Amino acid sequence: MSRRTLTHLHKLKAKGEKITCLTAYDASFARLIDQAGIDILLVGDSLGMVIQGHDSTLPVTVDDMIYHCQQVGRGSDQALLIVDMPFMSYATPRTAFESAARLMGDGQAQMVKLEGGDWLTETVQMLTERGIPVCAHLGLTPQSIHQLGGYRVQGRTDIGAECLRDDAVALQSAGASLLILECVPGNLATEITALLDIPVIGIGAGVECDGQVLVLYDLLGITPGKRPSFSKDFLQETGSIPAAIEAFSSAVKNGTFPGPEQTFE
Ligand code: KIV
Repeated sequence: MSRRTLTHLHKLKAKGEKITCLTAYDASFARLIDQAGIDILLVGDSLGMVIQGHDSTLPVTVDDMIYHCQQVGRGSDQALLIVDMPFMSYATPRTAFESAARLMGDGQAQMVKLEGGDWLTETVQMLTERGIPVCAHLGLTPQSIHQLGGYRVQGRTDIGAECLRDDAVALQSAGASLLILECVPGNLATEITALLDIPVIGIGAGVECDGQVLVLYDLLGITPGKRPSFSKDFLQETGSIPAAIEAFSSAVKNGTFPGPEQTFE
């Protein structure tokens, strides 16, 4: 079976059908997620926190990402495989190109994800011109946690919202094929989703995005420390891991997740 493609995701956006995405870090969970028909497997650098036990994503390396991406790739054969570019691995366009080439070549990812706004347009253009598809990530960008001063909702002020809208358009124009929007008010995410042609996947960004992503360990209620308020423990109400993944998928597809209680104003 061949993997889902970007074209497939763009068709889902055009038809108004929701896109599902979960993080995965190893072959066994990847297999369960893949079997549930989830559209995208994201090898997130959240692995620094949920797998490696760090208190941020900053210590994660390109080698770590390749190692986990290979495992997830071996456990799956249907979902689109996206890998995070870790902290400082895309600080300059040249560094980004070298890191992304390894993540795609050795890691076997189909797309790389990077966090940041219009300062990344040159990098996005460089990667996409060389055949490396890019998923942009805006809003709460955990690699900038020390700059942001904490895990907070972004884009609540007029200026903050305008910046996010401009960044989203600039990244799409530079060639980004997908956008992840994290922790932004629901209304702003709705606006950005309508503004862009590329699919917008939300996490803590309301139900109107083109799709939803969750960190698998949040969905299973096993995140170390406090589970983010925008997430939901699907395991608690279903009692098994495959059923929890299926429940997430159905809730996203029928528009019942996220609900108002998981959405910021
Ligand atoms: O690293 C990660 O898991 C992510 C998701 C939260 C979108 O970037």
